[in-house]
Amino acid sequence: MATAVCPGSFDPVTNGHLDVFERAAALFEHVTVAVLINKTKSSVFTVEERMEMLSESLAPFPNVSVDAFHGLLVDYCRDKGISAIVKGLRAVSDFEFEFQLALMNRKLEPNLETLFLMPREEFTYISSRLVKEIGRLGGNIESFAPANVVAALRKKFN
Ligand code: PNS
Repeated sequence: MATAVCPGSFDPVTNGHLDVFERAAALFEHVTVAVLINKTKSSVFTVEERMEMLSESLAPFPNVSVDAFHGLLVDYCRDKGISAIVKGLRAVSDFEFEFQLALMNRKLEPNLETLFLMPREEFTYISSRLVKEIGRLGGNIESFAPANVVAALRKKFN
């Protein structure tokens, strides 16, 4: 059975991401959640903090591991022997850009498939950006992100 990667910034991981990881874990022998190291993009959490929060949240899934990568995703997949990219699709608005990325990745590495999984409906409006904004402004984010992320955001924005 094939192995997959769920790539992203995960700044921070949300309940929507976790829903997609869980679905991927049921389909693949092994899933790597890979955090992009992107020095040009400002983030609230360091890559290490994001990986730690992901690892804590993913502890119940023995076939899911957490890693970080830089450079092209196709090169990372080639190096690790990963044959599929799994992305979450929340709404039609996600589709256009994800479609472009998927086709570009296929052009770069024809043997690598991209699969889209849809999270549960109640997670379709959640994004890391909104969770951070609501957290920064003192709103309740408990239903949008795991408890460790909620605590970490409260600490950051205290
Ligand atoms: O959570 P994000 O920021 O939407 O994730 C985007 C990500 C990391 C999946 C995408 O930017 C990516 O794969 N970057 C790695 C660099 C790369 O391969 N770029 C070419 C894409 S066709």
